[in-house]
Amino acid sequence: MNFLTIKALEIMFLIINIKEALSASEKEMQIIIDVVNSYEKPTDVVAIVCWRKYLKFSFVNKLRKLEKPKRVLFITKHEVCENKLPSKNLIFITDTRCPNIKDILFNANSCNKFNNPNRWIILGNMLIKNNEITHDFTNLNIMIDSEVILLQLYAKIFKLYMPYKIGPKNNGWIIESFATWDPIHGLNKSKEIDIATSVRRKDLSREPITMSVVVTENMTKSELPEIRNIHRDTLAKSSFLHYMPIYDFTNATMAIIYAETWGYLLNGTWNGMVGDVAQGKAEFAGTVMFITKERLPVLEYMNSPSSTSVKFVFREPSLSYENNLFLLPFKPVVWYCIVGLVFLLMFILFINARWENVKSCNKNKIDHTILQPNVSDIAIMVISAISQQGSSTELKGQYILKCTARFSTVLPRLTLYLDATGSLGRVVMFILFFTFVFLYTSYSASIVALLQSTSNQIRTLSDLLNSKLELGAEDIVYNRYLFSTATEPVKKAIYQNKIAPRGSKANFMKLEDGVRKLQKEPFAFNMNTGLGYRLVEQYFYEHEKCGLREISYFVNNKPWQTCRKDSPYKEIFKIGSFRSQEHGFNVRINKIVYSKKPICIAKGGKFGSVNMTDFYPALLTLLYGIISALVILLFEILVHRKQFKGKS
Ligand SMILES: *[C@@H]1O[C@H](CO)[C@@H](O)[C@H](O)[C@H]1NC(C)=O
Ligand SMILES: *[C@@H]1O[C@H](CO)[C@@H](O)[C@H](O)[C@H]1NC(C)=O
Ligand SMILES: *[C@@H]1O[C@H](CO)[C@@H](O)[C@H](O)[C@H]1NC(C)=O
Ligand SMILES: *[C@@H]1O[C@H](CO)[C@@H](O)[C@H](O)[C@H]1NC(C)=O
Repeated sequence: MNFLTIKALEIMFLIINIKEALSASEKEMQIIIDVVNSYEKPTDVVAIVCWRKYLKFSFVNKLRKLEKPKRVLFITKHEVCENKLPSKNLIFITDTRCPNIKDILFNANSCNKFNNPNRWIILGNMLIKNNEITHDFTNLNIMIDSEVILLQLYAKIFKLYMPYKIGPKNNGWIIESFATWDPIHGLNKSKEIDIATSVRRKDLSREPITMSVVVTENMTKSELPEIRNIHRDTLAKSSFLHYMPIYDFTNATMAIIYAETWGYLLNGTWNGMVGDVAQGKAEFAGTVMFITKERLPVLEYMNSPSSTSVKFVFREPSLSYENNLFLLPFKPVVWYCIVGLVFLLMFILFINARWENVKSCNKNKIDHTILQPNVSDIAIMVISAISQQGSSTELKGQYILKCTARFSTVLPRLTLYLDATGSLGRVVMFILFFTFVFLYTSYSASIVALLQSTSNQIRTLSDLLNSKLELGAEDIVYNRYLFSTATEPVKKAIYQNKIAPRGSKANFMKLEDGVRKLQKEPFAFNMNTGLGYRLVEQYFYEHEKCGLREISYFVNNKPWQTCRKDSPYKEIFKIGSFRSQEHGFNVRINKIVYSKKPICIAKGGKFGSVNMTDFYPALLTLLYGIISALVILLFEILVHRKQFKGKS
């Protein structure tokens, strides 16, 4: 009996204990549900807990009944780092009272699960006296972007804390109060918590944050924040100036390491500045850089602060560079009409001349000033009309009149008729010369205008490739790399045919040399426009600044500020960067360092002399003329000799 009573009592105690334990757990569960429900963003729950089955069941049930039901996933400590989990909008739940809690937390730590955007709720007391994190857990990387909520029970009131570390060292724990919870009032969030994490925690308390800077000359290291010698490592200096207000904004201390190049993937590892960032030596890339596909997995692109970009710049070549100027004044239809007109006039002239010849009164005496009805005489006559020259032969109606005068009394009708043929010839001559005066005038006027015009036919990369322009690029690490690794057919052809033709020296040159060449020759130069235009402003005459054109070779030709993909500071610095953009700091620096495309204020004010390319077709015509004349001469001599031989 006694024994039984004791057993029964024990069982009763157990039940009470379980109930007690259960009620505590139920409170905690309610807190979790309240917290999950308090987030306005979508949230799924991942629980790594050692709860009993009925507890899990009741938890799922409660989440299901929420206004916006949440999904829940129960996983083991081994599954924390597996990629089966969704990558976003997760809230992890674990309990320090579970026996394998250390493994769970260290697993999560090893695969950076504490990072943003994951959130955590850790049940069971994790803080010890004086708001210190339990010694076992101080190595966890709960960084400035983490949202980890610790549940702490103080005499019926639960307090929820959010701890984080500013730097990687362990001493700097900062513990924010997230909320309080008691069964009557429920969850009472602190006011400060409503501010977004990255704004709330922006004061980094002078934490040193490293950035890697690309310098190509040692001198730059001592004069980074200065405007002096801005032409040397300009990108490094301007990027540095862009970063300064961000460091001020975040109250961080600047630590700098130097790299020699921007960084490219070689044999699976990154070198240069990207290497520093990817390997964790630096948090930020202190010099702006392009977006490339390979860099996307390791870098987070934050903002593009500078106004500069990299493009091919060239002066519009003169029209004759791409076209035959002498054909341009008339449209093809007009040319065809002129040819038609010439033949028509030749035909009419022929009929006229033939008529005069037939009706001529003294056929024995040949008058050499009368147009004979043969092709060569008529052709010479028309050509002389086209080129505004006179001709030794003409149609002479008068002659016929004179010799018909004798018959005029006898045959008045015939005289009248012959009179009319005389004026007909003159009318034809008149029309012939008059038409060509007009054509000639419009042609020459048009040529004069065209000689001073520039061509706007080069608009795309393939136009550039097919043009006669010489191409070159600024001699800088990224140009050399990106040009030689281009894969698109047009870009590849540009590099192989124009920039680095096989067997000759690649056309990479200093910025200054390139700009000088741009001024003097038909040349397209791939340069940093912000810096290049500075020199253009310096060297070019006003009229030379007109007609500058740009074609971009790189798809993403704007340089960006970047940081490590998983850097805890990325949000804070991104906000800082946008802030200095909005406050105009970036514009100020850009105005000091870079130049915009110069404005053309003296268009048409220039005096362009005609050069060889302009009248090359004319020379060619002369040459062909001389050659054909010589050939014909030779031919005539031969024919003459043959005839002479035949006669003798
Ligand atoms: C919530 O907490 C604040 C102090 O943090 C307190 O002033 C306020 O009365 C609390 N509200 C409730 C409903 O308990
Ligand atoms: C920057 O951090 C230092 C060290 O924590 C602090 O004394 C100072 O007040 C902070 N400055 C600002 C502007 O918050
Ligand atoms: C810069 O200085 C380092 C050591 O001080 C030297 O090894 C390196 O060759 C120098 N680089 C240039 C470009 O002068
Ligand atoms: C890359 O690897 C190849 C062969 O594995 C080697 O020949 C080459 O030197 C390596 N390049 C670099 C930069 O390490």
